[in-house]
Amino acid sequence: MPLKVRKLHPLFGGEASGIDISKSLSSAEVAEIVAAMDVYGILLFRGQPLSGDQQIAYAQHFGPLDLGLRKINKTRVKHRLGHEALIDISNIDESGNIADRNSRKMFSQLANQLWHSDSSFQQPAARYTTLHSAVNPSWGGETEFADLRAAWDALPDRTKAQIENLTSEHFALHSRINLLGDTGYTEAEKGVLPPVTWPLVRTHPGSGRKLLWVGIHATHIPGMHIGEGRLLLAELLEHATQPDVVYRHHWQPGDTVMWDNRATIHRGMRYDLDERRELRRVSTEDVDVPARQAA
Ligand code: OGA
Ligand code: MN
Repeated sequence: MPLKVRKLHPLFGGEASGIDISKSLSSAEVAEIVAAMDVYGILLFRGQPLSGDQQIAYAQHFGPLDLGLRKINKTRVKHRLGHEALIDISNIDESGNIADRNSRKMFSQLANQLWHSDSSFQQPAARYTTLHSAVNPSWGGETEFADLRAAWDALPDRTKAQIENLTSEHFALHSRINLLGDTGYTEAEKGVLPPVTWPLVRTHPGSGRKLLWVGIHATHIPGMHIGEGRLLLAELLEHATQPDVVYRHHWQPGDTVMWDNRATIHRGMRYDLDERRELRRVSTEDVDVPARQAA
């Protein structure tokens, strides 16, 4: 059955049906999903419970798996889920209890509440992320998305001309250390993922559309006064995430949302950290190499 997509928001996002993502996909199905991702930026697959292995096998159709911040945290945060690339997006510690408020695990859940594109602090960054919902809190804990191509389209011409040739530097620990106040990182850990520089305006390869490449990992604009650059980054991020351009996803257990980190940013919504919230994430690297065949 071919892929069908129902729009989720006037600007982007779609609910997909017609493909069973728990099974190994044909190359035609992979191509259909990629084509839909290029248009919609995010796809929701509802009511298809996935095991961790199935979620990994699904992601591997689209490229090599990304470890992102686990490159820094792997010795400090034990993974609960049995595979290094199956990232535990939860407030649960390795013994199955609500994590300590001051643990790095909890700081990571808070950092996810700031607008970002996954792994934009490294090159290659992440291309696709799949996030699968298992347990939801009684309130909050939704995930919001915004389309960076729509954000570029809606900029005034003067701003477009002003920023067209600027870059920004992204650093993995900026949000954690400077914004949220996690003081627990060693100098060695701070050096694991050195900052990377990106154009502030990029072109999305799959759709050919220009996009405003902003997010919380951006620390400054090289060549511009530090304060002026930070204010400009904050203004652009605010522009990209105005309420009417945002799709807010209300999770149901069994939902998988797949997003294109090259075209969209996202954030989690606040919830009571004393209630369980459990999702599983797998991301792929933004590289053009043949995807590994799922086992
Ligand atoms: C992520 C993420 C947001 C959320 O998994 O990459 O940012 O709502 N999640 O948990
Ligand atoms: Mn994320």
